Amino acid sequence: MALLKKINSDPKIKNQQKKLLLWFISIFMVITMTGFSNERKLKITKQYLNIPVGYKARMKLVEIKVNGKMQREFPVQLAEDSVNYWIYIDVTEFNGKSITLNSPASLKSLNRIYQDEQINGSDSLYKESNRPQFHFTVKRGWSNDINGPIFYNNQYHLFWQSFPFGLSWNTGFMYWGHAVSADLLHWKELPPAMMLDSLGSPWSGSSVIDKNNDGGWGKDALVLYYTAFDRVSGKQVQCIAFSTDNANTFKRYGGNPVIDSNWEMQTTDTRDPHVFWHELSKHWIMVLLEKDGMSFYNSLDMRKWVKQSHFKGLWECPDFFELPVDGDNQTKKWVLHGGSPEYMIGTFDGKKFSPETAKLRYCDENKEDPGDLLYASQSFANMPENRRVQMAWGRIEHPGMPFTQMMLFPTEFSLITTAEGIRLVANPIGEINRLHNKAYKWESITLKRANEELEKIKAGPLHLKINFSLDPGHFLRLSYHGDEFLNLSSDELQIGENSVELLVDKTVAEIFINHGKHYIVRSLNKNRNGDGLLFNSERYGPVINHMEVYQMKSIWNSAE
Ligand code: FRU
Repeated sequence: MALLKKINSDPKIKNQQKKLLLWFISIFMVITMTGFSNERKLKITKQYLNIPVGYKARMKLVEIKVNGKMQREFPVQLAEDSVNYWIYIDVTEFNGKSITLNSPASLKSLNRIYQDEQINGSDSLYKESNRPQFHFTVKRGWSNDINGPIFYNNQYHLFWQSFPFGLSWNTGFMYWGHAVSADLLHWKELPPAMMLDSLGSPWSGSSVIDKNNDGGWGKDALVLYYTAFDRVSGKQVQCIAFSTDNANTFKRYGGNPVIDSNWEMQTTDTRDPHVFWHELSKHWIMVLLEKDGMSFYNSLDMRKWVKQSHFKGLWECPDFFELPVDGDNQTKKWVLHGGSPEYMIGTFDGKKFSPETAKLRYCDENKEDPGDLLYASQSFANMPENRRVQMAWGRIEHPGMPFTQMMLFPTEFSLITTAEGIRLVANPIGEINRLHNKAYKWESITLKRANEELEKIKAGPLHLKINFSLDPGHFLRLSYHGDEFLNLSSDELQIGENSVELLVDKTVAEIFINHGKHYIVRSLNKNRNGDGLLFNSERYGPVINHMEVYQMKSIWNSAE
């Protein structure tokens, strides 16, 4: 700017020359300011592009082009100087082709990207110091909401909101991550199920099996419902993708979007479709966040959706399912919850949800950290034996790791009658026992003795079960690596006999009190000094009637 001013006011430069000079300088400035881009050409012969990331580098867009046509674009903090971690892109689809990488990042940083058959860091993958060992985490990048978990062709499929290029929530470039498991414990991360398309980023949603080919994409097709988010307009519309090759690849439905209610609702908050088959009304049902609550739509052909009712009061990521009360299949109730672990119990007639309770919670509010550490859970569709197992996004940081956030341990939902009425409880799935390694058991011991025994057990991923008696005014207090993560008084527990089940895994503790009546999630990432698991307040603590501790096997031993 100063240069432009100087030239303009210099009487020695003639008018004609002045104009020409100014014109050149302006063009140069426009090019450098708006998308001046470097280019790197390479022929793809290997599976992965390994890409260096620097915490201090600015986010820059990188485009992958083939014959000048854009194939993919993604933002990344491409390392200009020191490299903090590496991300990767699977480029199998470009094998044998020449691609160009275009980016405003420097040529030096673009040149550091290299091809390989392995991802950078594959030697230490799943063994990194802060990597949970029996919880699912992504290889690289950011993950949030659980999307469309389902049991399909003898495998569990888990999808989630994924930003594989960095450690932040980048809603303009979300993918659907994808992993499979035979047992809900050991997961294999696959290439993303969905990337961006012309309607935007695939945001949260659900999946169903089209057993009768109602949608016309093929019998038993796996159909995904999701929100497409346009990062420029902020518009959120509902879309479909489907797979007819056993969930290996997903195609977008040509008639997308199937619902666009932004204008009608006067809002852009229309998202997270939860779809299921409702046997009683013989319709497909969609629960959808619209503006200030959940709308209920129905459909016969899975494509045309008609709104039936709207229910104010819960916010984003709906899950909606029916469960027997106290295991009695003659008495069933519907449970509706949103992104937070707040839920309501009621009835559903195929068109309208009628709540019979106020808002309740199945996971306690966090006393220390503001906000819910458990968020955006979804339960598996089509599970054998009508089980209702859910997984949730654990909003947990993993300092120094090439990934962040996690999936909490799968829990089984049930409805039980308590003194306060019917309640939803979550407990770790019974399959957890298959991860037990070394076991330790004690009967009737003091807290002092319990601590002496715990000190002998190597700190590491643990599953602990205790039954204890608590006197009025006494506490249950637990710390890990010197960090107190649980402090419950006799007011919050029961006077007399209580039970606690505790999962400790590197950065996370999940605590289930009195068979899930309280479910508490804590982050363990603050401190790494001091001992492993210990009870605090030996004087005012409970008496342990029974204690079992299991060192846990890693779920990653057989993973790639
Ligand atoms: C909840 C949420 C969803 C949305 C997704 C985008 O965490 O805001 O409502 O679909 O995240 O990643």
